[in-house]
Amino acid sequence: MKRVAIFISGGGSNMVSLVDSMTGDHPARPVLVLANSADAGGLEKARARGVPTAVIDHRPFKGDREAFEEALQAELVKAAPDILCLAGFMRVLTAGFVENWQGRMLNIHPSLLPKYRGLHTHARALEAGDREHGCTVHEVTPELDDGPILGQATVRVLPGDTPDALAARVLEQEHRLYPAVLRRFAEGNREMLRLTRD
Ligand code: GAR
Repeated sequence: MKRVAIFISGGGSNMVSLVDSMTGDHPARPVLVLANSADAGGLEKARARGVPTAVIDHRPFKGDREAFEEALQAELVKAAPDILCLAGFMRVLTAGFVENWQGRMLNIHPSLLPKYRGLHTHARALEAGDREHGCTVHEVTPELDDGPILGQATVRVLPGDTPDALAARVLEQEHRLYPAVLRRFAEGNREMLRLTRD
């Protein structure tokens, strides 16, 4: 059985979709949900599901990313995960941390990478006049929102779409894609998964 830790910063809807998927004959189980703020709404959802939680607030570290990551690493050593999933974790990790977890760390990003790395992905897709948009699960490498792509799900951009409306439809696909990719990854399958739109 693979042990999975999940890092979050906010509401944690992707974390919930991952945790809820790891039941029955699933080859993995959640062992830790960690947030970089005690205000992260996802913490309560993890607790309600009986998953151990931890908070490492980045603010007292005042930009000392190495010290922040030493604290993250200490929690990871305790939980001993095999796989680390970033799920809306909004802190950039240093190359040193990433290299330590490379091959074992996944991220979900709300765009069809390599398009629109970074923030405001939905607004940027609309501004560009894209007809398709979506989300990507990839292995984390030191370059931001880079690394081998493990899965993508697309949505159609609709006439009159706003960033919020588009984000909501992409988020629905995130909740399908991330659990499907995690399951395959835990089984040792790293082939790219393409989920077609409904
Ligand atoms: C998700 O849309 C995720 O793809 C995005 O943040 C949201 C978190 O929502 N992640 C990034 O933008 C990472 N750069 P959630 O907390 O409800 O899962």
